[in-house]
Amino acid sequence: MKIRPKIALYEPDIPQNTAAIIRTCACLGSNIEIIQPCGFLLSDKRFKRVAMDYMDEKNIKFYKSYKDFFSSKKNERIILMTTKASDPYYKFKFKMNDTILFGRESAGVPDKIHKLIKIKLKIPMIKNKRSLNIASSVSIVLAENLRQNNFKNYGY
Ligand SMILES: C[S@@+](CC[C@H](N)C(=O)[O-])C[C@H]1O[C@@H](n2cnc3c(N)ncnc32)[C@H](O)[C@@H]1O
Repeated sequence: MKIRPKIALYEPDIPQNTAAIIRTCACLGSNIEIIQPCGFLLSDKRFKRVAMDYMDEKNIKFYKSYKDFFSSKKNERIILMTTKASDPYYKFKFKMNDTILFGRESAGVPDKIHKLIKIKLKIPMIKNKRSLNIASSVSIVLAENLRQNNFKNYGY
């Protein structure tokens, strides 16, 4: 099986954002991992339609809690994307099998999650801007991972 990057979402709030991220991951060849509880029902039409249309079931994984997520990652790096980091993502050397974790739309990730993760990166922004939309930030960082790894899973 091909090694793919993994985009993980911590308790996402907004089904349209999660759907957009699923579509990006499906088109660019990344797995997606969703840490529950979500702020919407997994049966939500807006979410389900995109998930079913775009994502192969084997490439989407749900965790019942953040504890389940962390215990499944003993041998892999988890990278937290947060506006609070000091290191910019473009100086970091990504591995194809990294798990890149994004916080929830309303509040990022809580302190307990910050404390569990060593590698934290930011996407630099113009001064005094709060944050990017989560789906935009996933696209930026996933594209950088794939670029650094020469899009090596692609057939062209
Ligand atoms: C809408 S933002 C969350 C905003 C939230 N109020 C906060 O303070 O973290 C959702 C997620 O997108 C990612 N994100 C957005 N802008 C980012 C940036 N400039 N650098 C790194 N991650 C970013 C982070 O993972 C963040 O938790």
